[in-house]
Amino acid sequence: MNPSKRLGRRRASVLGLAAVVSLVTPGIANGADRAPDAPRASTLGAQAAQSGRYFGTAVAAGRLGDGQYTGILDREFNQVTPENEMKWDATERNRGQFTFGSADQIVNRATARGQKVRGHTLVWHSQLPDWVKAIRDANTLRSVMNNHINTVAGRYKGRIHSWDVVNEAFADGGSGQMRSSVFRDVLGTGFIEEAFRTARSADPSAKLCYNDYSIEDWNSAKTQGVYRMVRDFKARGVPIDCVGLQSHFGAGGPPGSFQTTLSSFAALGVDVQITELDIAQAPANGYANTVRACLNVARCTGITVWGIRDSDSWRSGENPLLFDRGGNKKQAYRSALTTMGGTP
Ligand code: XIL
Repeated sequence: MNPSKRLGRRRASVLGLAAVVSLVTPGIANGADRAPDAPRASTLGAQAAQSGRYFGTAVAAGRLGDGQYTGILDREFNQVTPENEMKWDATERNRGQFTFGSADQIVNRATARGQKVRGHTLVWHSQLPDWVKAIRDANTLRSVMNNHINTVAGRYKGRIHSWDVVNEAFADGGSGQMRSSVFRDVLGTGFIEEAFRTARSADPSAKLCYNDYSIEDWNSAKTQGVYRMVRDFKARGVPIDCVGLQSHFGAGGPPGSFQTTLSSFAALGVDVQITELDIAQAPANGYANTVRACLNVARCTGITVWGIRDSDSWRSGENPLLFDRGGNKKQAYRSALTTMGGTP
């Protein structure tokens, strides 16, 4: 689907939260769990590492020739997520023909520098080739899905910190149910469980995550739907290790219940991560509130922003990131860093 359409839909729900955001009660302490005598780091990744977390960014293979971009990338971030390069339309555009050039470029570069890699993403209704969408036979789709997971996750076996096994499977709005997609419509809701089981066998050392947007507000039906699924998976032994909250926020930043959402998922026995953070107009307090919520939850293991400079963003018109178009640090950057206990 057209990303601007997606964002428009999403923004409607984000704006609805603006009123709630004014009620945000700041959590305690900046970098509360930082050892008292730890030195204050001056970069995001180094500071996050002091509490055992990572601070990462989405990376686009096409920008790796830009020295300003890679300079910031390697200075500030210790985790990367390929922005588009591992998606189905990039890796298996035609059935059974796999292409990994751009994904390899990102993984090899990151691995050489000790940056963790988040695999993104194995099963998603969007950026999905038409040939997959056209499948109507369940046995065919099951074998196509499992072959895709085995081939992509298998290629990077042992090199991926966490995989977004299934992305955005839940519907917006008040239903709390899974959205219509070729996977749900042809295979039934059990496709998610099957994808996780296949991913576990393809790469047993990767953490396996469910990732979605608009699941940051504990009071929303979509959040509750995902929560029920994760609770059910844990109860039945379906191999799930983590939940990714995309966190594409409007100018109000995270909803007031964000930390409650993180801690509630964590209490089910999974890690949580903030996986695609960007905030319209990059308000310093919105970034501080987001980072603080993660620091206050022991099982919130990392934060990833969805791009480096505003010019790199899929929402570039909203200047939602930590670095401006000239690669300069913004107020939001200083806010994120100091909230973790670092010093610019
Ligand atoms: C976006 C990319 O940033 C764009 O470059 C692309 O055109 C569309 O997808 N949720 C996700 C990400 O899980 O993969 C999306 O990334 C943003 C929303």
